[in-house]
Order: sequence, then structure tokens, then C-alpha cells
Amino acid sequence: MEILKMLGGRYSGSKRPASWLAVTVLTYIGSPAYAEGDAAAGKTVFANQCASCHTIEAGKNGFGPSLAAVFGRKAGTLPDYKYSPALAQSGLTWDEKTLDVFLNGPAYSPATRTLYVAAVDWCGTFTKSDQPPQFVANAHYYGGAVTPDPREQARGWLQAIDATTGTMRWRRQWPTPLVGGITVTSGGVLFTGDLNNDFLAIDASNGKTLYHFNTGGTIGGGVISYEIGGKQYVATTSGVVSGFFGGSGTSAIIIFSLPSAP
Ligand code: HEC
Repeated sequence: MEILKMLGGRYSGSKRPASWLAVTVLTYIGSPAYAEGDAAAGKTVFANQCASCHTIEAGKNGFGPSLAAVFGRKAGTLPDYKYSPALAQSGLTWDEKTLDVFLNGPAYSPATRTLYVAAVDWCGTFTKSDQPPQFVANAHYYGGAVTPDPREQARGWLQAIDATTGTMRWRRQWPTPLVGGITVTSGGVLFTGDLNNDFLAIDASNGKTLYHFNTGGTIGGGVISYEIGGKQYVATTSGVVSGFFGGSGTSAIIIFSLPSAP
């Protein structure tokens, strides 16, 4: 089977190291534990990817809860924010490990210097209002009203980007937003999943689907590969339901392994 040949060793994909969040947050409480370069990078990532929904000011929630002093905090516990039951009852404490798993990220292959990014493509109609709404720093501000297109029209993209030049090596449109993690192996296989419940093994060189498996629930969490006793496994989450992206199924972790060598 093609996938078997391509598997090889794995990289720690599905990683957006939590250290940058720690850096971002710690920067504001003045911890000397991280280099300034990291802090600057963390700040940029936060501004680009999180600030539309989160502030780092205590007591100021946006669409998401305030992330002030989030490091070391119990998940889902700000009294003035209405969390999903899943987060409120998760029992998690935010540290480097739990944040790494919670924040699904892109994957990077050092062998081919390619960054694999799953994305969401969801349009909406923006309407200017006569009376502009009140501006609140760091909260969503559209200058009027926004009506998102129906969720069924939302799409995803799976993209392979040359990390040295920034050019797109290949990109594939997906019938659903892609919100799960991605992991890539040194043998050139990409693992991810979609909101149509499919776990996917993809040829990292061209984006072709090599294998898919209906897990019975939406995939929107982490995807990892690991080895125990010389045998390689791939684990994914299924049944990740969100108020924003929808979804279905029962929370489950699904683990795949390769048949043992004869
Ligand atoms: C589209 C809006 C949106 C974006 C963008 C976003 N978040 Fe969130 N975030 C949320 C929502 C909504 C929740 C609450 C989820 C719940 O209740 O289940 C949340 C919860 C969290 C929590 C848990 C906080 C707590 O009090 O337990 C953390 C940590 C977090 N987000 C970090 C981030 C980081 C870091 C980024 C940027 C990489 C980010 N988020 C981007 C909407 C967003």
C-alpha cells in the first residue's frame, strides 16, 4: 500500500507551540523566561490569529473569553463568560501541554520545507449602518452589521506552502471548513480530518487523498502520530462539536495502526 511506503518517521506535526502563547501572555506580566524575539513573534501571531476574538485585558471578553493570565488558569472558569458545557466541564488547566493540544495548528515538514495549513473559507455580507456601532478596542468591529452566509456554504482549504519562498506548492478546496489539526510524516503522508466525519491520509507532495475513513463524528481536534514498541499509530479526535462550526457525533478518540510486518 502506498501509504505504508510513505509513512516513515513522523514529525511532531499538529503543533502551534504553546510557548508563543505563554510568551504573549507572559510578556504582559513581565516574565523574563523567554527571549525577546519569541515574545515579538508571539505578539504578532496573537494579533493576527486571536485578537479578533480575544483580549488580554482582565475582565474584557470579546467573542471569546479574556486571555489575561490564562497560563495556569483552569479552563472555562471566568465567571463573566458563558462557556460551552464541554469547556466548562473539561477539568483542564491551561499549561504548555494542554494549550498545544487545544490550539490545533499547521504542520511543517523539514524534509521538504513545506508548511501545511488547513483553513476556513466562509463569506458573509457586511452592511454599513447609519449609526455606527460603538467601538470597543479588541472586540469585533465591522462598522455595521454582518450576516454570515449559511454554514452549509462554508468551505475549507488544504494548502501546502513553500516555507522558504511563501509560494503555494498546491492547494485543494474542501467541501467543509477544515478545523482539525494536521500532522505530516517524513515519508510524505499528511493526516487530518474534516467536518464530514472523514479521517484523511493525504499525499503530502500533491494533496491527493490516499485513504479516508468515516469516523462517525466531525473531526475538529488534534491529529498525532506516535510509536510504541516499534509500531506506529495515528490518533485523531471525532465528535468535536462547536457552536460556531457545528458538527455531530459522540466525543471519541480513534486510533489507527499499521498491520505488523510479516
Ligand atoms: C473566531 C473566534 C476565535 C478566535 C479567532 C480564537 N478564539 Fe479562542 N475561544 C473562542 C471562543 C468562542 C472560546 C470559548 C469556547 C468555549 O466556551 O467552548 C475560546 C476559548 C479559548 C481559550 C480557553 C479560555 C478559557 O478561559 O478557558 C483559549 C486558551 C483560547 N481560546 C485561545 C485562543 C488563541 C491562543 C487563539 C489564537 C490562536 C484563539 N483562541 C483564537 C473564540 C476564538
